[in-house]
Amino acid sequence: MERLPFIAGNWKMNKTVGEAVDLVRELKASLAGVQGVEVAVAPPFTALYAVWKELEGSSIHLAAQNLYWEEKGAFTGEVSPIMLKEVGCHYVIIGHSERRQFFGETDETVNRRIKATLTQGLKVIFCIGETLNEREGGKTFSVIERQVEGGLKGFGDKKIENMVIAYEPVWAIGTGKTATPEQAEEVHRFIRGKLEKLYSREVSDKIRIQYGGSVTPENVKGLMSQRNIDGALVGGASLKGESFSKIVRFKEL
Ligand code: PGA
Repeated sequence: MERLPFIAGNWKMNKTVGEAVDLVRELKASLAGVQGVEVAVAPPFTALYAVWKELEGSSIHLAAQNLYWEEKGAFTGEVSPIMLKEVGCHYVIIGHSERRQFFGETDETVNRRIKATLTQGLKVIFCIGETLNEREGGKTFSVIERQVEGGLKGFGDKKIENMVIAYEPVWAIGTGKTATPEQAEEVHRFIRGKLEKLYSREVSDKIRIQYGGSVTPENVKGLMSQRNIDGALVGGASLKGESFSKIVRFKEL
């Protein structure tokens, strides 16, 4: 089964509106004409509208980094799926390890966020991954299993097709320690097997699984050559036009 490679840039809490617009202008130019790969950028909330306007006519998709599951109301500081749709978002990153680590996100709240996102017709980049302690304690697969089961609880086949999974080992995020292609592939294969058990072979074959954690132009090709690695969720290296474009153009490296 051919899955379209998907490279997404997670800008995290970086870029003012002006800086964000400059970066997408650069990306639009450097990525013009690139085919056979889907691309998305996830600026902070404050820059979404301006980036959306700048992306008009481009095939680069817009993603948000989080949302709240209610449509509207007295939830100070939160942003709803409808609001994100209105400013041109196509994807929402949910369950990033930084949200789990610093902002109390749990499998249950991840599940509620995924539900609300899919219900509003947005697509999800659902992040999972083990910490260093969990890996060293031999718990990688049980943690991944728990996160997949918890995050996807209550979904039927139809909805799940609007989802991308990002495997991001916490020990590899922002540390410069990438998982080796083989280490990543082992977990990606496990995730696909789990999806097959939960849904079907057909569904698990369709779902794209990105790898995230210190992806760079130097290591992307090796990672992308693995059978079950269908893309990358890129943090640090997505903040510069040159390195992100190289990653998107991994086939040419
Ligand atoms: P990194 O971040 O590429 O800076 O390691 C990846 C991520 O957290 O999505």
